[in-house]
Amino acid sequence: MAAKGALWLMLLPLVVAVVIATNTNSVYQPCADAKIQRSDGFTFGIAFSSRESFFFNQSLQLSPCDHRLSLSSSNSQLALFRPKVDEISLLTINTSSFFPDNYGGYMVAFAGRKYAARSPLAFVANSTYTVTSFTLVLEFQKGRLQNLYWKRDGCSSCKGKSNFVCLNKQDCGIRTSSCKGRGGAVDCSLGIQLAFSGTDKHLSVLNSWYEVENLRQYSLYGLYSNLRDSLTSQYNKFF
Ligand SMILES: *[C@@H]1O[C@H](CO)[C@@H](O)[C@H](O)[C@H]1NC(C)=O
Ligand SMILES: *[C@@H]1O[C@H](CO)[C@@H](O)[C@H](O)[C@H]1NC(C)=O
Ligand SMILES: *[C@@H]1O[C@H](CO)[C@@H](O)[C@H](O)[C@H]1NC(C)=O
Repeated sequence: MAAKGALWLMLLPLVVAVVIATNTNSVYQPCADAKIQRSDGFTFGIAFSSRESFFFNQSLQLSPCDHRLSLSSSNSQLALFRPKVDEISLLTINTSSFFPDNYGGYMVAFAGRKYAARSPLAFVANSTYTVTSFTLVLEFQKGRLQNLYWKRDGCSSCKGKSNFVCLNKQDCGIRTSSCKGRGGAVDCSLGIQLAFSGTDKHLSVLNSWYEVENLRQYSLYGLYSNLRDSLTSQYNKFF
């Protein structure tokens, strides 16, 4: 009897851990409002299009969910992601058959409708340069997405690497003509590191942001060995 009780006690923490890790967010649409807790999945989108198509009346940047933009009828592409909240993630967008410069060359991350949030525009590619590495911060307050923004490191990650050009003092660009499918040999797939900050619906602090800050110097790509081979070591290999 005593042995059984001990076994049960040993199992209990495992069961609790499984329950805590279960997703409680049933919102799978990017243009709907979700309230999250740590370890939920969270759906958001990234739209690729021209600079102008993200603005209403050429002045007001709206969420891609806003019908006034009519993004779906313009030359645009949409990528959807559902990362786990507060887990360090590296999203990739394979560019072997998708050339961002063919769709206007800019991207915006977004989620929500009544509580709509969208990032500022990020330059991805034109016929001369392609930017392959981004860090996106998702900031929540009490579990609602408040803000999305691109964290830049002022080109420090490509300082001293002759294959890269520092664009606008913020992005490390590679020549588009060096990319696979464009006359070159480099896999110019996009890598987007995610970081979460703020609080979830139980006011628990999301802190993957701090981990990214600390890891930045080593580059998060190092954590993803399969990607490291295709996305970073090639830069040294091919030039
Ligand atoms: C668009 O902008 C112009 C000038 O900035 C303004 O006169 C006009 O009222 C705006 N239209 C709408 C629909 O907001
Ligand atoms: C992108 O897709 C191509 C073709 O399927 C593949 O060879 C390449 O390794 C992929 N790149 C990444 C970064 O996954
Ligand atoms: C491509 O983008 C870079 C960086 O924004 C810019 O300096 C350059 O003029 C652009 N080239 C073309 C052909 O649009």
